[in-house]
Amino acid sequence: MATRTTHGSVLLIGASRGLGLAIAAEYVARGARVVATVRGSGRTALHELREESGGLEIQEGVDVTVPGQVRALRRRLEGCSFELLLVNAGIATNSDPADITDEEFNRVMTTNALGPLRAIELLGDLLGADGTIAVMSSGQGSVANNSRGGFDVYRASKSALNQLVRSYAARHVDDPRTLLLLAPGWVRTSLGSSDAPLSIEETIPHLVTTVDNQRGHGGLQYLDRFGGVVPW
Ligand SMILES: NC(=O)c1ccc[n+]([C@@H]2O[C@H](COP(=O)([O-])OP(=O)(O)OC[C@H]3O[C@@H](n4cnc5c(N)ncnc54)[C@H](OP(=O)(O)O)[C@@H]3O)[C@@H](O)[C@H]2O)c1
Repeated sequence: MATRTTHGSVLLIGASRGLGLAIAAEYVARGARVVATVRGSGRTALHELREESGGLEIQEGVDVTVPGQVRALRRRLEGCSFELLLVNAGIATNSDPADITDEEFNRVMTTNALGPLRAIELLGDLLGADGTIAVMSSGQGSVANNSRGGFDVYRASKSALNQLVRSYAARHVDDPRTLLLLAPGWVRTSLGSSDAPLSIEETIPHLVTTVDNQRGHGGLQYLDRFGGVVPW
């Protein structure tokens, strides 16, 4: 029997597969009511999860790079309230910064930095004063820890995300809600590749426990899956 969550209702953005799907499954197993989003309207692994378990609702057609789709989700959720908003959506690139096209650079930055920030701006009012807003960052977003480079544009997009969320926190200094930037570790998913040292099963239960342990703490933290502080 899984530990019960401290977040009884969860809005999860970007959960068709990978870490987002596993986070949805973990919160359902911990007894939460979960509303999780996918980009398209086709069948995904999240739809299979919904068939196997209660407590999961899927909202389709939510691309974080399309503000109108996030606003439409907000309208559909009018009257609902959540204890956790977790924005997981993200993409990677390994294109060299000297060669990357403007189009790809903009796509990575918009998906990983601007899209999540817009999502918390547009959906944040669905949470009560003791709610938690968490955003999937990456250890690669740490400027302080960047001694080796690699995946330069992806890193820059997660650093930009961290900076935008820090500015959001500074603009909402009297807001009692908890803000988290999460660094799950390098995990075997389509994005993380089969070279990654960690499985989803080794990662997500710890990450969800870390999010749950932060309930009600307030302020902004950049944390790894075990709750350790990641230097900015
Ligand atoms: N895996 C790792 O090692 C690792 C490490 C650190 C951080 N992260 C972060 O963790 C998050 C999830 O990564 P993952 O490894 O699970 O990757 P993944 O398996 O490639 O899954 C990415 C998820 O994000 C969704 N997504 C992508 N672009 C989107 C958009 N514009 N709007 C809405 N949803 C979108 C995808 O939906 P579709 O199915 O529609 O594409 C999919 O559900 C990302 O933010 C990633 O940067 C991953």
